[in-house]
Amino acid sequence: MKIDDRLKHLEDLEKQALLGGGEKRIKAQHEKGKLTARERIDLMLDKGTFRETDKFVTHRCTDFGLEKNKILGDGVVTGYGKIGGRTVCVFSEDFTVFGGSLSLAYAEKIVKLQDLSMKMGCPIIGLKDSGGARIQEGVDSLAGYTYVFLRNVLSSGVVPQISAVMGPCAGGAVYSPAMTDFVIMVTGSYMFLTGPDVVKAATHEDVTYEELGGAMVHNEKSGVAHFAVDSELECIDLIKKLLSYVPQNNLEDPPFVEPTDDPNRGDKELDTIIPDSPNKPYDMLDVIKRVVDNGDFLEVHKHYAPNLIVGFARFNGKAVGIVANQPAVLAGVLGRNSGMKGARFVRFCDCFNVPIVTFVDVPGFLPGTAQEWGGVIKNGAKLLYAFCEATVPRVTVITRKAYGGAYCVMSSKHTRADVNFAWPSAEIAVMGPDGAVKILYKKELKEAKDPKALEKKLIDEYTEKFANPFVTASKGYIDALIKPSQTRPRIIEALDMIDNKRDTNPPRKHGNIPL
Ligand code: HXC
Repeated sequence: MKIDDRLKHLEDLEKQALLGGGEKRIKAQHEKGKLTARERIDLMLDKGTFRETDKFVTHRCTDFGLEKNKILGDGVVTGYGKIGGRTVCVFSEDFTVFGGSLSLAYAEKIVKLQDLSMKMGCPIIGLKDSGGARIQEGVDSLAGYTYVFLRNVLSSGVVPQISAVMGPCAGGAVYSPAMTDFVIMVTGSYMFLTGPDVVKAATHEDVTYEELGGAMVHNEKSGVAHFAVDSELECIDLIKKLLSYVPQNNLEDPPFVEPTDDPNRGDKELDTIIPDSPNKPYDMLDVIKRVVDNGDFLEVHKHYAPNLIVGFARFNGKAVGIVANQPAVLAGVLGRNSGMKGARFVRFCDCFNVPIVTFVDVPGFLPGTAQEWGGVIKNGAKLLYAFCEATVPRVTVITRKAYGGAYCVMSSKHTRADVNFAWPSAEIAVMGPDGAVKILYKKELKEAKDPKALEKKLIDEYTEKFANPFVTASKGYIDALIKPSQTRPRIIEALDMIDNKRDTNPPRKHGNIPL
């Protein structure tokens, strides 16, 4: 073939590859309100930066007549490009080709990209829209999935991995995103291991895709997803924002953003934010937004276990992860789900050199059989383990309650936190005054002429003696008592002081976090 003919042939192939499963299926994709795999990439990456890899790869299946149906690219668009000028690898599943189902060749394209992202030290983003294992390929497809899973695990803690579910994510398709750092689900997308038909046959439950594994189901109930968004465009914006807080890999620091907020900015409102009654809630999100740069807080896992808040923000331009009890939900207690949620976030920050700022207002752990039988011990232990293990710079602020085991867990000094502050409103003790008095003075209260009056007196005494920050400060368990209004400058100063922190864990193969 002459060179001109070759070039023409190549042009034709390029055109063909761009059409994926064909115009009819692209139209059907649009009619469902979905973008195509390529449109998603174009919108996500900086203009003109996308370089596609393996555009001409096809499957190698010879069963079920598939040998006569080869489509260039084979159902997944892979490549690299830039977001905000920083390199990323991306794969985008193409539902127009065999329902985005995964063949061995398709898996090999993703694996190649995963290996590249690890070698180059850049994040990898997967845009999911797939019916799962390509059924016609049998065990080859299962092998393909497992090669991808293996890379998900080997990449974990080396490069950030983000998954965005934009359509079906069925069967084998779920485990790769489940092992990535962040999962975003778009309204209308769904994730499930076994579909509604199988569920009905096995359990007689009649559920829709949405009810079984829709965006809110996985954000609120299972916790598999960290974000729910209403549209694909919102999803793409969120991916960009998320990336702005994280480094390219575990050997780098998060990107610095030139600050536009005064590092010395005080906030008088914070001096009166704690209600007079210890049992009255206030919104910890309000505290967070008042102290971080420009009030900008990206909440992660917002719909799951909202009694604990986790997310990203900046202090004087430096990215941090924030972990905070939320007194406005269940009084801010720790429970089995919040333990899991917090632990995963703390470990992400620790993997990727993101300092952690913790705000504490926690009356203890959630009581009840549902909690005890459901693993509140094991899951609380996860968060405790994660904080103890974390060697990134850590600042803790106790705003009000820090009781019992929950005090220990929430990045206390004893877990190796670097700078621990308390507001004058802090109450740090083994348990709340009411409970403590009932246990310590059980006999006296039983025998008292006026048990109510005695109980009140004892509670007042206990509160005076223990439910304040001074005892803890006198023992050196907190470094300083600070004015609430000065929280922002003091956190910024502390983060600056510990910026060069070097701390390590003992050499070992790996620890054994209570999973
Ligand atoms: C091969 C598939 C496919 C699959 C969809 N298609 N899923 N082909 N293997 N897994 C094909 C369809 O046959 C159809 O082809 C086209 O993709 C579009 O699919 P539709 O069903 O028309 O689309 P829709 O109505 O939108 O439904 C989407 C869907 C449904 C809900 C995802 O296709 C579905 O239920 N698929 C199977 C899901 C599933 O159970 N997967 C698990 C596979 S086993 P035509 O040519 O007719 O248009 C698995 C185990 C691996 O993954 C475990 C590894 C750990």
